[in-house]
Amino acid sequence: MMIQKTGGATCTWKYLGRYKKLGVCAIVVVFLWYGTLAPRRTMVPIWDLQEEEAKNLSGKIVIFAATHYFSAPFKDDFQECHQKFQNVCAISSQRAHFSQASAVIFHSRNINSKVLSSFPFPRRLEIPYVMVAYESPYNAKLEIYKDFFNWTMSYRMDADVFAPYGGLLRNSELVKVNYTEIWKSKTKGTLWLVSNKYVKNKRKELVEKLIENGMKIDLYGKVYDREPENCSQDGGQEGCDEKFQSPYRFTIAFENSNCKDYVTEKFWIKAERYRMVPIVMSRKIYKNLGIPDNMYIAVDDFKTLKEFVEFIKNVSSNEKEYMKYHRWREEFRIAEANHEVFGFCDLCQKLINFKNRTIPRRSYSNLKAWHNEDNCDNSFVDRYL
Ligand SMILES: *[C@@H]1O[C@H](CO)[C@@H](O)[C@H](O)[C@H]1NC(C)=O
Ligand SMILES: *[C@@H]1O[C@H](CO)[C@@H](O)[C@H](O)[C@H]1NC(C)=O
Ligand SMILES: *[C@@H]1O[C@H](CO)[C@@H](O)[C@H](O)[C@H]1NC(C)=O
Ligand SMILES: *[C@@H]1O[C@H](CO)[C@@H](O)[C@H](O)[C@H]1NC(C)=O
Ligand SMILES: *[C@@H]1O[C@H](CO)[C@@H](O)[C@H](O)[C@H]1NC(C)=O
Ligand SMILES: *[C@@H]1O[C@H](CO)[C@@H](O)[C@H](O)[C@H]1NC(C)=O
Repeated sequence: MMIQKTGGATCTWKYLGRYKKLGVCAIVVVFLWYGTLAPRRTMVPIWDLQEEEAKNLSGKIVIFAATHYFSAPFKDDFQECHQKFQNVCAISSQRAHFSQASAVIFHSRNINSKVLSSFPFPRRLEIPYVMVAYESPYNAKLEIYKDFFNWTMSYRMDADVFAPYGGLLRNSELVKVNYTEIWKSKTKGTLWLVSNKYVKNKRKELVEKLIENGMKIDLYGKVYDREPENCSQDGGQEGCDEKFQSPYRFTIAFENSNCKDYVTEKFWIKAERYRMVPIVMSRKIYKNLGIPDNMYIAVDDFKTLKEFVEFIKNVSSNEKEYMKYHRWREEFRIAEANHEVFGFCDLCQKLINFKNRTIPRRSYSNLKAWHNEDNCDNSFVDRYL
Protein backbone atom coordinates (compact mmCIF):
# COMPACT_ATOMS: atom_id res chain seq x y z
CA MET A 1 0.00 0.00 0.00
CA MET A 2 2.71 2.45 1.03
CA ILE A 3 4.56 1.71 -2.18
CA GLN A 4 1.66 2.41 -4.48
CA LYS A 5 0.87 5.67 -2.69
CA THR A 6 4.44 7.01 -2.91
CA GLY A 7 4.77 5.98 -6.53
CA GLY A 8 1.43 7.57 -7.40
CA ALA A 9 2.31 10.89 -5.80
CA THR A 10 5.59 11.08 -7.72
CA CYS A 11 3.83 10.43 -10.99
CA THR A 12 1.40 13.29 -10.65
CA TRP A 13 4.07 15.99 -10.86
CA LYS A 14 2.38 18.26 -13.36
CA TYR A 15 5.43 19.97 -14.82
CA LEU A 16 6.89 16.76 -16.19
CA GLY A 17 6.18 15.69 -19.73
CA ARG A 18 4.41 12.43 -20.28
CA TYR A 19 7.57 10.43 -20.95
CA LYS A 20 9.55 11.99 -18.15
CA LYS A 21 6.65 11.17 -15.87
CA LEU A 22 6.77 7.56 -16.94
CA GLY A 23 10.54 7.54 -16.49
CA VAL A 24 10.46 8.96 -12.99
CA CYS A 25 7.65 6.63 -12.12
CA ALA A 26 9.63 3.63 -13.38
CA ILE A 27 12.73 4.68 -11.46
CA VAL A 28 10.76 5.08 -8.25
CA VAL A 29 9.03 1.75 -8.69
CA VAL A 30 12.32 -0.03 -9.45
CA PHE A 31 14.00 1.68 -6.49
CA LEU A 32 11.24 0.68 -4.09
CA TRP A 33 11.12 -2.81 -5.44
CA TYR A 34 14.82 -3.35 -4.90
CA GLY A 35 14.81 -1.55 -1.56
CA THR A 36 11.92 -3.36 -0.01
CA LEU A 37 10.54 -6.29 -1.94
CA ALA A 38 13.29 -7.90 -3.96
CA PRO A 39 15.67 -8.87 -1.16
CA ARG A 40 12.97 -10.68 0.73
CA ARG A 41 12.10 -12.70 -2.33
CA THR A 42 15.60 -13.64 -3.41
CA MET A 43 17.45 -13.92 -0.10
CA VAL A 44 18.20 -17.39 1.19
CA PRO A 45 16.38 -17.83 4.49
CA ILE A 46 18.86 -17.57 7.35
CA TRP A 47 17.74 -20.62 9.22
CA ASP A 48 16.87 -23.70 7.28
CA LEU A 49 13.86 -24.78 9.30
CA GLN A 50 11.06 -26.84 7.89
CA GLU A 51 7.72 -27.08 9.58
CA GLU A 52 6.06 -29.96 7.75
CA GLU A 53 5.35 -33.20 9.50
CA ALA A 54 8.60 -34.82 10.55
CA LYS A 55 9.86 -38.06 9.04
CA ASN A 56 10.25 -40.80 11.61
CA LEU A 57 14.01 -40.85 12.23
CA SER A 58 13.91 -42.88 15.41
CA GLY A 59 16.98 -45.10 15.64
CA LYS A 60 19.00 -42.77 13.40
CA ILE A 61 21.79 -40.43 14.38
CA VAL A 62 20.27 -37.11 13.35
CA ILE A 63 22.43 -34.23 12.12
CA PHE A 64 20.42 -31.04 12.33
CA ALA A 65 21.27 -28.64 9.47
CA ALA A 66 20.64 -25.18 10.87
CA THR A 67 21.54 -23.41 7.62
CA HIS A 68 21.61 -24.03 3.90
CA TYR A 69 24.90 -24.75 2.14
CA PHE A 70 25.09 -21.49 0.15
CA SER A 71 21.67 -21.38 -1.52
CA ALA A 72 20.74 -25.06 -1.40
CA PRO A 73 19.93 -27.34 1.52
CA PHE A 74 22.60 -29.75 2.76
CA LYS A 75 21.93 -33.04 1.00
CA ASP A 76 20.81 -35.94 3.14
CA ASP A 77 22.88 -38.49 1.26
CA PHE A 78 25.18 -41.10 2.73
CA GLN A 79 25.01 -43.49 -0.22
CA GLU A 80 28.63 -42.94 -1.20
CA CYS A 81 29.85 -43.54 2.34
CA HIS A 82 31.41 -46.76 3.54
CA GLN A 83 28.62 -49.28 4.02
CA LYS A 84 28.75 -49.06 7.80
CA PHE A 85 27.46 -45.46 7.70
CA GLN A 86 24.83 -45.79 5.00
CA ASN A 87 21.76 -46.24 7.16
CA VAL A 88 23.07 -44.85 10.39
CA CYS A 89 22.98 -41.07 10.03
CA ALA A 90 20.45 -38.67 8.54
CA ILE A 91 20.47 -34.93 7.91
CA SER A 92 17.31 -33.01 8.72
CA SER A 93 16.12 -29.43 8.97
CA GLN A 94 12.70 -30.24 10.36
CA ARG A 95 12.05 -28.28 13.53
CA ALA A 96 10.68 -31.34 15.24
CA HIS A 97 14.04 -33.12 14.90
CA PHE A 98 16.08 -30.55 16.79
CA SER A 99 15.50 -32.12 20.19
CA GLN A 100 16.62 -35.59 19.07
CA ALA A 101 19.61 -34.36 17.03
CA SER A 102 23.14 -35.59 17.82
CA ALA A 103 24.83 -32.57 16.23
CA VAL A 104 23.95 -29.21 14.71
CA ILE A 105 25.75 -27.99 11.57
CA PHE A 106 26.15 -24.40 10.35
CA HIS A 107 27.74 -23.35 7.05
CA SER A 108 30.28 -20.57 7.54
CA ARG A 109 29.13 -18.55 4.53
CA ASN A 110 25.48 -18.55 5.58
CA ILE A 111 25.95 -16.99 9.01
CA ASN A 112 27.73 -14.26 10.92
CA SER A 113 27.76 -13.50 14.62
CA LYS A 114 24.76 -11.19 14.42
CA VAL A 115 22.70 -13.81 12.62
CA LEU A 116 23.88 -16.49 15.01
CA SER A 117 22.40 -14.66 17.98
CA SER A 118 18.96 -15.22 16.47
CA PHE A 119 19.22 -19.01 16.29
CA PRO A 120 15.75 -19.93 17.50
CA PHE A 121 16.52 -22.90 19.75
CA PRO A 122 17.83 -23.08 23.32
CA ARG A 123 21.47 -24.20 23.45
CA ARG A 124 22.02 -27.91 23.84
CA LEU A 125 25.40 -28.26 25.54
CA GLU A 126 25.54 -32.03 25.36
CA ILE A 127 25.83 -32.24 21.56
CA PRO A 128 28.48 -30.70 19.27
CA TYR A 129 27.68 -27.56 17.29
CA VAL A 130 29.72 -27.92 14.11
CA MET A 131 31.15 -25.18 11.87
CA VAL A 132 31.29 -26.34 8.26
CA ALA A 133 33.95 -24.36 6.35
CA TYR A 134 35.31 -25.87 3.15
CA GLU A 135 36.96 -22.76 1.76
CA SER A 136 40.39 -21.21 2.18
CA PRO A 137 40.80 -18.67 5.01
CA TYR A 138 40.27 -15.87 2.46
CA ASN A 139 36.82 -17.09 1.51
CA ALA A 140 35.50 -19.00 4.50
CA LYS A 141 34.54 -15.77 6.34
CA LEU A 142 35.00 -17.13 9.83
CA GLU A 143 34.51 -14.89 12.84
CA ILE A 144 35.73 -15.41 16.40
CA TYR A 145 32.50 -17.05 17.61
CA LYS A 146 33.84 -17.38 21.13
CA ASP A 147 33.06 -20.80 22.62
CA PHE A 148 30.04 -21.39 20.45
CA PHE A 149 31.36 -24.08 18.13
CA ASN A 150 32.51 -27.42 19.45
CA TRP A 151 33.79 -28.97 16.24
CA THR A 152 35.11 -27.82 12.87
CA MET A 153 34.42 -29.62 9.61
CA SER A 154 36.95 -28.64 6.96
CA TYR A 155 39.62 -29.77 4.49
CA ARG A 156 42.20 -29.07 7.19
CA MET A 157 43.80 -32.24 8.54
CA ASP A 158 43.48 -30.93 12.07
CA ALA A 159 39.75 -30.27 11.74
CA ASP A 160 37.56 -32.34 14.04
CA VAL A 161 35.75 -33.73 11.02
CA PHE A 162 38.00 -34.26 8.01
CA ALA A 163 36.21 -33.03 4.91
CA PRO A 164 38.74 -32.83 2.09
CA TYR A 165 37.84 -32.24 -1.56
CA GLY A 166 39.24 -35.69 -2.20
CA GLY A 167 41.84 -38.02 -0.82
CA LEU A 168 43.72 -41.27 -1.22
CA LEU A 169 42.65 -44.57 0.24
CA ARG A 170 44.82 -47.66 0.17
CA ASN A 171 43.55 -50.53 -1.96
CA SER A 172 43.18 -53.78 -0.07
CA GLU A 173 45.36 -55.41 -2.73
CA LEU A 174 47.46 -54.10 -5.60
CA VAL A 175 45.36 -53.15 -8.61
CA LYS A 176 46.47 -54.01 -12.16
CA VAL A 177 46.91 -50.84 -14.18
CA ASN A 178 46.93 -50.98 -17.97
CA TYR A 179 49.76 -48.53 -18.61
CA THR A 180 49.75 -49.10 -22.36
CA GLU A 181 46.13 -48.06 -22.49
CA ILE A 182 46.80 -44.86 -20.51
CA TRP A 183 49.80 -43.97 -22.68
CA LYS A 184 47.85 -44.56 -25.89
CA SER A 185 44.99 -42.37 -24.69
CA LYS A 186 47.33 -39.43 -24.09
CA THR A 187 47.59 -37.46 -27.29
CA LYS A 188 47.82 -33.91 -25.93
CA GLY A 189 50.10 -31.89 -23.67
CA THR A 190 49.03 -29.67 -20.80
CA LEU A 191 45.58 -28.28 -20.06
CA TRP A 192 44.66 -25.28 -17.94
CA LEU A 193 40.91 -24.88 -17.56
CA VAL A 194 40.30 -21.98 -15.21
CA SER A 195 37.20 -20.08 -14.22
CA ASN A 196 38.09 -17.95 -11.22
CA LYS A 197 40.20 -14.85 -11.76
CA TYR A 198 39.94 -13.55 -8.19
CA VAL A 199 42.99 -15.22 -6.75
CA LYS A 200 45.69 -14.46 -4.19
CA ASN A 201 48.75 -16.15 -5.61
CA LYS A 202 49.43 -14.85 -9.15
CA ARG A 203 48.82 -18.24 -10.70
CA LYS A 204 47.92 -16.69 -14.05
CA GLU A 205 51.22 -14.80 -14.16
CA LEU A 206 53.08 -18.03 -13.46
CA VAL A 207 51.26 -19.92 -16.22
CA GLU A 208 52.00 -17.14 -18.68
CA LYS A 209 55.65 -17.14 -17.63
CA LEU A 210 55.78 -20.89 -18.28
CA ILE A 211 54.43 -20.28 -21.76
CA GLU A 212 57.09 -17.60 -22.28
CA ASN A 213 59.64 -20.24 -21.36
CA GLY A 214 58.44 -22.49 -24.14
CA MET A 215 55.83 -24.66 -22.47
CA LYS A 216 52.78 -25.46 -24.55
CA ILE A 217 49.64 -25.06 -22.46
CA ASP A 218 46.09 -25.10 -23.82
CA LEU A 219 44.18 -22.32 -22.07
CA TYR A 220 40.44 -22.59 -21.52
CA GLY A 221 37.74 -21.31 -19.20
CA LYS A 222 36.15 -18.03 -18.14
CA VAL A 223 39.48 -16.37 -17.42
CA TYR A 224 40.44 -16.77 -21.08
CA ASP A 225 36.90 -16.38 -22.36
CA ARG A 226 37.21 -19.65 -24.21
CA GLU A 227 34.94 -22.55 -23.32
CA PRO A 228 35.81 -25.97 -24.70
CA GLU A 229 33.32 -27.58 -27.02
CA ASN A 230 30.69 -29.71 -25.29
CA CYS A 231 31.51 -28.30 -21.88
CA SER A 232 28.45 -26.75 -20.30
CA GLN A 233 29.08 -23.18 -19.14
CA ASP A 234 27.46 -23.68 -15.76
CA GLY A 235 28.90 -27.16 -15.29
CA GLY A 236 32.16 -25.46 -14.38
CA GLN A 237 35.41 -27.29 -14.63
CA GLU A 238 34.03 -30.54 -13.34
CA GLY A 239 31.03 -30.58 -15.66
CA CYS A 240 33.43 -30.78 -18.56
CA ASP A 241 33.36 -33.64 -20.94
CA GLU A 242 35.70 -36.48 -20.24
CA LYS A 243 36.43 -36.68 -23.97
CA PHE A 244 37.88 -33.22 -23.82
CA GLN A 245 40.09 -33.62 -20.77
CA SER A 246 41.29 -37.21 -20.80
CA PRO A 247 43.68 -36.90 -23.78
CA TYR A 248 45.85 -34.44 -21.84
CA ARG A 249 48.95 -35.79 -20.12
CA PHE A 250 49.15 -32.97 -17.60
CA THR A 251 46.87 -30.43 -16.02
CA ILE A 252 47.80 -27.20 -14.28
CA ALA A 253 46.30 -27.68 -10.81
CA PHE A 254 47.29 -24.39 -9.17
CA GLU A 255 44.90 -23.43 -6.38
CA ASN A 256 43.58 -19.87 -5.92
CA SER A 257 45.77 -19.49 -2.83
CA ASN A 258 48.59 -21.48 -1.26
CA CYS A 259 47.31 -22.53 2.14
CA LYS A 260 48.01 -25.38 4.53
CA ASP A 261 46.23 -28.56 3.36
CA TYR A 262 44.26 -26.64 0.73
CA VAL A 263 44.04 -29.04 -2.22
CA THR A 264 40.76 -28.95 -4.09
CA GLU A 265 38.90 -30.99 -6.66
CA LYS A 266 41.03 -29.53 -9.45
CA PHE A 267 43.73 -31.87 -8.19
CA TRP A 268 41.69 -34.89 -7.14
CA ILE A 269 38.97 -35.13 -9.77
CA LYS A 270 41.37 -34.51 -12.62
CA ALA A 271 43.76 -37.19 -11.46
CA GLU A 272 40.92 -39.60 -10.85
CA ARG A 273 38.43 -39.18 -13.66
CA TYR A 274 40.69 -37.90 -16.42
CA ARG A 275 43.97 -39.51 -15.37
CA MET A 276 45.92 -36.31 -15.87
CA VAL A 277 49.13 -35.70 -13.93
CA PRO A 278 48.62 -32.56 -11.82
CA ILE A 279 51.21 -29.79 -11.97
CA VAL A 280 51.30 -27.91 -8.66
CA MET A 281 53.23 -24.92 -7.35
CA SER A 282 54.82 -26.07 -4.16
CA ARG A 283 55.55 -29.60 -3.04
CA LYS A 284 55.32 -29.08 0.69
CA ILE A 285 51.53 -28.65 0.82
CA TYR A 286 51.02 -31.99 -0.93
CA LYS A 287 53.75 -33.78 0.96
CA ASN A 288 52.21 -32.64 4.24
CA LEU A 289 48.96 -34.36 3.22
CA GLY A 290 50.82 -37.63 2.68
CA ILE A 291 50.28 -37.63 -1.09
CA PRO A 292 52.92 -39.80 -2.81
CA ASP A 293 55.69 -37.76 -4.45
CA ASN A 294 55.13 -39.30 -7.85
CA MET A 295 51.47 -38.42 -8.11
CA TYR A 296 52.20 -34.88 -9.27
CA ILE A 297 54.96 -32.57 -10.50
CA ALA A 298 55.85 -29.50 -8.45
CA VAL A 299 57.28 -26.34 -10.02
CA ASP A 300 59.37 -25.62 -6.93
CA ASP A 301 61.46 -28.75 -7.43
CA PHE A 302 63.25 -26.76 -10.13
CA LYS A 303 65.60 -23.80 -9.80
CA THR A 304 64.34 -22.12 -12.92
CA LEU A 305 61.21 -22.30 -15.04
CA LYS A 306 63.38 -23.22 -18.03
CA GLU A 307 64.51 -26.40 -16.28
CA PHE A 308 60.94 -27.18 -15.30
CA VAL A 309 59.70 -26.77 -18.86
CA GLU A 310 62.50 -28.96 -20.20
CA PHE A 311 61.64 -31.63 -17.63
CA ILE A 312 57.97 -31.66 -18.69
CA LYS A 313 59.04 -32.00 -22.32
CA ASN A 314 61.25 -34.95 -21.42
CA VAL A 315 58.56 -36.72 -19.44
CA SER A 316 55.96 -36.11 -22.16
CA SER A 317 57.99 -37.88 -24.78
CA ASN A 318 59.12 -40.82 -22.71
CA GLU A 319 56.53 -43.49 -21.90
CA LYS A 320 58.55 -45.01 -19.08
CA GLU A 321 59.15 -41.66 -17.37
CA TYR A 322 55.54 -40.54 -17.78
CA MET A 323 54.17 -43.77 -16.35
CA LYS A 324 56.05 -43.23 -13.11
CA TYR A 325 53.38 -40.64 -12.34
CA HIS A 326 50.60 -43.20 -12.64
CA ARG A 327 52.16 -45.98 -10.63
CA TRP A 328 50.41 -44.89 -7.42
CA ARG A 329 47.18 -46.18 -8.95
CA GLU A 330 48.24 -49.73 -8.11
CA GLU A 331 48.39 -48.98 -4.42
CA PHE A 332 45.82 -46.23 -3.94
CA ARG A 333 42.48 -45.03 -5.18
CA ILE A 334 41.00 -41.54 -4.98
CA ALA A 335 37.82 -40.99 -2.98
CA GLU A 336 35.91 -37.79 -3.68
CA ALA A 337 34.44 -35.40 -1.12
CA ASN A 338 31.87 -37.07 1.15
CA HIS A 339 32.71 -40.49 -0.24
CA GLU A 340 33.75 -43.56 1.80
CA VAL A 341 35.27 -42.05 4.97
CA PHE A 342 35.42 -38.33 4.14
CA GLY A 343 33.23 -35.39 5.06
CA PHE A 344 29.74 -36.42 6.11
CA CYS A 345 30.85 -40.05 6.35
CA ASP A 346 33.49 -38.95 8.88
CA LEU A 347 30.97 -36.81 10.74
CA CYS A 348 28.75 -39.87 11.08
CA GLN A 349 31.70 -41.91 12.39
CA LYS A 350 32.63 -39.19 14.87
CA LEU A 351 29.07 -39.01 16.14
CA ILE A 352 29.01 -42.76 16.67
CA ASN A 353 32.23 -42.40 18.67
CA PHE A 354 30.87 -39.41 20.55
CA LYS A 355 27.77 -41.32 21.63
CA ASN A 356 30.12 -43.95 22.92
CA ARG A 357 31.96 -41.22 24.88
CA THR A 358 35.29 -41.73 23.15
CA ILE A 359 35.52 -38.04 22.21
CA PRO A 360 35.77 -35.50 25.02
CA ARG A 361 33.83 -32.24 24.97
CA ARG A 362 35.57 -29.20 23.60
CA SER A 363 34.96 -25.78 22.04
CA TYR A 364 36.82 -23.11 20.06
CA SER A 365 37.55 -19.85 21.83
CA ASN A 366 38.54 -18.19 18.53
CA LEU A 367 37.56 -19.81 15.27
CA LYS A 368 38.90 -16.97 13.17
CA ALA A 369 42.37 -17.49 14.62
CA TRP A 370 42.17 -21.19 13.89
CA HIS A 371 41.49 -20.62 10.20
CA ASN A 372 43.34 -17.41 9.43
CA GLU A 373 45.56 -16.21 6.64
CA ASP A 374 48.78 -17.07 8.50
CA ASN A 375 48.08 -20.57 7.21
CA CYS A 376 48.80 -19.30 3.70
CA ASP A 377 51.89 -18.20 1.81
CA ASN A 378 51.21 -16.59 -1.53
CA SER A 379 54.67 -15.17 -2.10
CA PHE A 380 55.66 -18.33 -3.96
CA VAL A 381 55.35 -17.05 -7.53
CA ASP A 382 57.44 -13.93 -6.90
CA ARG A 383 60.70 -15.86 -6.97
CA TYR A 384 60.02 -16.96 -10.55
CA LEU A 385 58.72 -13.69 -12.04
C1 LIG B 1 9.04 -44.59 14.55
O1 LIG B 1 9.58 -45.82 14.12
C2 LIG B 1 9.89 -46.74 15.19
C3 LIG B 1 10.52 -47.99 14.62
O2 LIG B 1 11.47 -47.66 13.67
C4 LIG B 1 8.62 -47.07 15.97
O3 LIG B 1 8.95 -47.90 17.08
C5 LIG B 1 7.96 -45.79 16.47
O4 LIG B 1 6.74 -46.10 17.10
C6 LIG B 1 7.75 -44.81 15.32
N1 LIG B 1 7.26 -43.55 15.88
C7 LIG B 1 6.22 -42.90 15.38
C8 LIG B 1 5.85 -41.64 16.04
O5 LIG B 1 5.61 -43.33 14.43
C1 LIG C 1 45.64 -52.84 -22.32
O1 LIG C 1 45.07 -51.92 -23.21
C2 LIG C 1 45.38 -52.17 -24.55
C3 LIG C 1 44.94 -51.00 -25.39
O2 LIG C 1 43.67 -50.56 -25.01
C4 LIG C 1 44.75 -53.49 -24.98
O3 LIG C 1 45.02 -53.78 -26.33
C5 LIG C 1 45.30 -54.59 -24.08
O4 LIG C 1 44.65 -55.82 -24.35
C6 LIG C 1 45.13 -54.26 -22.61
N1 LIG C 1 45.88 -55.18 -21.82
C7 LIG C 1 45.36 -55.86 -20.80
C8 LIG C 1 46.26 -56.78 -20.07
O5 LIG C 1 44.19 -55.74 -20.48
C1 LIG D 1 30.68 -32.29 -29.47
O1 LIG D 1 29.46 -33.01 -29.56
C2 LIG D 1 29.04 -33.27 -30.89
C3 LIG D 1 27.65 -33.90 -30.83
O2 LIG D 1 27.60 -34.87 -29.82
C4 LIG D 1 30.08 -34.15 -31.59
O3 LIG D 1 29.69 -34.40 -32.90
C5 LIG D 1 31.43 -33.46 -31.56
O4 LIG D 1 32.42 -34.29 -32.11
C6 LIG D 1 31.82 -33.10 -30.13
N1 LIG D 1 33.04 -32.32 -30.13
C7 LIG D 1 34.10 -32.64 -29.38
C8 LIG D 1 35.30 -31.76 -29.46
O5 LIG D 1 34.09 -33.60 -28.62
C1 LIG E 1 66.00 -34.02 -20.54
O1 LIG E 1 66.51 -35.09 -21.31
C2 LIG E 1 67.81 -34.82 -21.78
C3 LIG E 1 68.19 -35.96 -22.72
O2 LIG E 1 67.87 -37.21 -22.18
C4 LIG E 1 68.78 -34.72 -20.59
O3 LIG E 1 70.09 -34.46 -21.04
C5 LIG E 1 68.31 -33.58 -19.69
O4 LIG E 1 69.08 -33.51 -18.52
C6 LIG E 1 66.86 -33.76 -19.31
N1 LIG E 1 66.41 -32.56 -18.62
C7 LIG E 1 65.71 -32.58 -17.50
C8 LIG E 1 65.38 -31.24 -16.89
O5 LIG E 1 65.36 -33.60 -16.94
C1 LIG F 1 31.95 -48.41 22.59
O1 LIG F 1 33.13 -48.49 23.36
C2 LIG F 1 33.36 -49.76 23.98
C3 LIG F 1 34.56 -49.69 24.91
O2 LIG F 1 35.48 -48.68 24.52
C4 LIG F 1 33.53 -50.80 22.88
O3 LIG F 1 33.72 -52.09 23.46
C5 LIG F 1 32.27 -50.81 22.00
O4 LIG F 1 32.43 -51.71 20.93
C6 LIG F 1 31.97 -49.43 21.47
N1 LIG F 1 30.71 -49.43 20.74
C7 LIG F 1 30.59 -48.94 19.51
C8 LIG F 1 29.21 -48.98 18.92
O5 LIG F 1 31.52 -48.44 18.88
C1 LIG G 1 30.26 -27.13 23.44
O1 LIG G 1 30.80 -25.90 23.86
C2 LIG G 1 30.17 -25.35 25.00
C3 LIG G 1 30.80 -23.98 25.27
O2 LIG G 1 32.16 -24.09 25.52
C4 LIG G 1 30.37 -26.32 26.18
O3 LIG G 1 29.72 -25.79 27.34
C5 LIG G 1 29.79 -27.66 25.83
O4 LIG G 1 30.02 -28.60 26.86
C6 LIG G 1 30.39 -28.18 24.55
N1 LIG G 1 29.69 -29.37 24.14
C7 LIG G 1 30.31 -30.38 23.55
C8 LIG G 1 29.45 -31.53 23.15
O5 LIG G 1 31.51 -30.42 23.31
